[in-house]
Amino acid sequence: MKEGMSHDTGQDVTPLAQRILAIFRAREGGIVSGEELSVFLNVSRTAVWKHIKSLKALGYRIDALPSQGYRLMASPDILLPAEIAAGLATARLGKRLLCFAETDSTNMIAFRLAEEGAEEGTVVIADAQRRGKGRLGREWSSPPGVNLYCSVVLRPPIPPVAAYQLTFLSAVAVARAVERTTSLSPRIKWPNDILINGRKVAGLLNEMGAETEKVNFVVLGIGVNLNMRRDQFPRELRHPASSLLLEGGREVGRVSFIQALLRELDLLYGLYLSKGDEEIRAEWLARCDIVGRTVMVSCRDYTLTGTVTGIDDNGALLVRLPSGVEEQVLSGDVTILEAKG
Ligand code: BTN
Repeated sequence: MKEGMSHDTGQDVTPLAQRILAIFRAREGGIVSGEELSVFLNVSRTAVWKHIKSLKALGYRIDALPSQGYRLMASPDILLPAEIAAGLATARLGKRLLCFAETDSTNMIAFRLAEEGAEEGTVVIADAQRRGKGRLGREWSSPPGVNLYCSVVLRPPIPPVAAYQLTFLSAVAVARAVERTTSLSPRIKWPNDILINGRKVAGLLNEMGAETEKVNFVVLGIGVNLNMRRDQFPRELRHPASSLLLEGGREVGRVSFIQALLRELDLLYGLYLSKGDEEIRAEWLARCDIVGRTVMVSCRDYTLTGTVTGIDDNGALLVRLPSGVEEQVLSGDVTILEAKG
């Protein structure tokens, strides 16, 4: 279902089909007769059959066993609220989940919903994006069926200057989710790249609606290359890019990945609200290789080279130039020139 057809609700399994799935799952692979389903759900056998058909059309493998009933053999790895919500252990995030087969950009939808008053924890997911937004006005390659493109609405009670802390928070959450779902070891590159073996597998684009003193909402935009194959990457990429499949040699379930990611975001956001950003910043720094390295930073109007001495309280990169002067860099593209000595 395209975004224009269902802007507010996205696509999902119908409520009745969700109940059918719940019955199948309670049977743990067992057979459920058409008669039982029609009694449990209080609908006709024909209605049951129609909903089974709609589930099959979405990719659920349901066997019909003559004169016995139906059996759920496999669920598709498609991003649907019913699949994601089943087994999602979060306190705040994902209470409202919107999934689209295709959209311009999940950040654009989440931003619009947040402006319209969407509650904290609203999550927008798309199977594909036509105009996925990357940092610094770049495009984020978003082919269907393989990756994760999601945006989360948060309403933290913080001033705009502190909003960068949520970028650190989402980077740590992505790194943790990669560790939960693969045996890979992700690293973070300032300000918001997740790398594996030096290649970028995920990027974050946080956008904010704010007044002078107060954040109204933050949209955490997260793109993770899960199962993208080499031939699916655009030719012209500024930095080496990869996917969890290419780095780990195994497909990663998209539903399990988003569940792990929402769980980690939820835990970290709870920690952030109760204790501030100290522990998250410490974990971010421990996962980041940049301090002590010689780097080249390409900013909008200039490029500089120097050694990274730290990250300041605004999330800016501190770079000591060969002259000894320390520069504060708020945004730019970092290339690491030389490993730590
Ligand atoms: C980067 O350039 O590194 C940031 C990429 C962020 C991409 C994600 S995909 C989901 C969300 N929607 C977008 O349009 N962009 C972000």
